[in-house]
Amino acid sequence: MKTVVKPVDAQAIAEAAQIIRAGGLVGMPTETVYGLGADALNPQAVRSIFAAKDRPADNPLIVHVSSLEEIAPLVREIPEAATLLMEAFWPGPMTLILPKADCVSDAVSAGLDTVGIRMPASDAARALIRAAGTPIAAPSANRSGKPSPTTAQHVFEDMDGRIPMILDDGECEVGVESSVIDATGETPIILRPGGITPEMVKAVLGSCEVDEHVMSPLKEGELVRSPGMKHKHYSPEAKTVIYEGGAQQVIEAIAAHYDEAERMGEKPCILGFDEHDFGTRNKLSLGSEKEPREAAKRLFAALRELDERGETLALCEAVEPTGIGLAVMNRMGRAAGFDLRRV
Ligand code: TXA
Ligand code: MG
Repeated sequence: MKTVVKPVDAQAIAEAAQIIRAGGLVGMPTETVYGLGADALNPQAVRSIFAAKDRPADNPLIVHVSSLEEIAPLVREIPEAATLLMEAFWPGPMTLILPKADCVSDAVSAGLDTVGIRMPASDAARALIRAAGTPIAAPSANRSGKPSPTTAQHVFEDMDGRIPMILDDGECEVGVESSVIDATGETPIILRPGGITPEMVKAVLGSCEVDEHVMSPLKEGELVRSPGMKHKHYSPEAKTVIYEGGAQQVIEAIAAHYDEAERMGEKPCILGFDEHDFGTRNKLSLGSEKEPREAAKRLFAALRELDERGETLALCEAVEPTGIGLAVMNRMGRAAGFDLRRV
């Protein structure tokens, strides 16, 4: 199959919508990361998403809508707290887990009794959903185990020959996937942090719970609230280590680790902030330390770059785990197998 990449315009959206209606797959932009979209109400189309990504069959998909009216048929009920979150943060980088209605197939929910729903802020994404006339199921458009794609080029690298079309809307604004919030109970729980932060949820609901696995590895046999937590994610080929602490201590510890590794024949690379000087050592920028949103936007591209360059060791500067920083530390932590060293 030939994969074409088309810049977003009315014609390209119409073509992509036609592919979705016919049961095909489209690489689609959203404000978080690129998705791999299919008609959420067509189980066969949904199953082909799993094949294209090599995704484990027990990991459910998020259903994307373009308006609030599209939600009612997909769910059995919308708890009060969920309504408040929708009003506050949709369209936007937030997925709500709700009790699913029968029209949502097991192919989407992976056999769970719930479904993740999201109304993306990206105009192109909502235009595509509207034009297709059906909700769109879409995971991130990476091959399973690779970092999520934040450009159409990333999608092409992973999906060339596997899907007919990728809509190109430039670099994703947020850069990490949506916040996944379990809204089935009275108190919503953040299962995956993202652009809608615990602080933002707290401002709306008065409190906010964050699942313990957001910043800790899963132990053998432990039960999880979200299947995504148990799958290996975002792991670059390079062994990845995170350093946290005072800026000067972190810079010195990273520089020392780097030099020692280089002597041992490793190919080290630093993921660090612009303000921090690592001399002539190999470095990929996470932007300014004052702008954690920039680190969120750049992290996945940096992880891909490590692999492309054949680096064998990645030494990362930690971000403060508040606001969007929690999402950065969750993704970085998973890439590093939570090898977090305090100095
Ligand atoms: O920003 C995003 O959310 C992107 C864009 C394309 O919208 N999508 C995305 O999808 O990241 P995916 O499939 O890569 O990640 C969805 C996560 C997985 O960890 C999955 O386990 C979890 O959400 N999830 C989906 N449905 C769920 C459910 N019913 N209960 C618990 N977790 C669920
Ligand atoms: Mg994903």
